[in-house]
Amino acid sequence: MSKIIAFVGSPRKNGYTSLLIEEVIKGARSKGAEVKIYDLNDDGIKGCQGCFYCRIHEGCATKDYLQPMYEDIKNADGIIFGSPIYFMQISGQSKQWLDRMFPMIGGSSFPFQARYPGKKAVTIFSQGNENKDAFQAPIQSVNNAFSMFGWELIDSLLCSNTSSPNLKLSEELLKQAFSAGELLS
Ligand SMILES: Cc1cc2nc3c(=O)[nH]c(=O)nc-3n(C[C@H](O)[C@H](O)[C@H](O)COP(=O)(O)O)c2cc1C
Repeated sequence: MSKIIAFVGSPRKNGYTSLLIEEVIKGARSKGAEVKIYDLNDDGIKGCQGCFYCRIHEGCATKDYLQPMYEDIKNADGIIFGSPIYFMQISGQSKQWLDRMFPMIGGSSFPFQARYPGKKAVTIFSQGNENKDAFQAPIQSVNNAFSMFGWELIDSLLCSNTSSPNLKLSEELLKQAFSAGELLS
């Protein structure tokens, strides 16, 4: 049975990012995967302290809600991450998490070594803007970080034009999310 870890970078439990992550999870579970979810909006999360513990040790010196994720990621086959776009960037919750992912790579300078390579990954982004190209830079920066971790990007989904107060997730996007989950497991 494959193990998948999902990281939810939106505070909105029923928002676009969360629902698309749910759909990826459904796809993965349909193939028998075991999934653990981390809510990146949890109050018990601290930002990276810049202590550089992880340059000479595996894992992170900060003991908080995210601490178990290092062991979980090490043992996982696949990773799901999703974030809304806030002020032309990934959400603050997501950025805080990304900084805490420094232990995914070893070494003190470029080129860093991927410590836990070979995992499959799916990323999901959601934005109000209808122009799908508007925030490719922050999206690429996450996808590039995953590539630096040695992870294979199975799919990267983008839900755009979400400004309407009513959720309007297309069937096409939901299917894409489910299929990405199937491929992840
Ligand atoms: C603080 C804040 C900043 C935002 N900044 C942007 C932005 O720069 N560009 C954009 O297209 N949408 C922006 N949005 C809209 C969100 O990206 C959009 O509503 C997204 O679908 C929310 O995802 P969620 O439903 O998963 O929470 C912003 C929303 C908030 C709350």
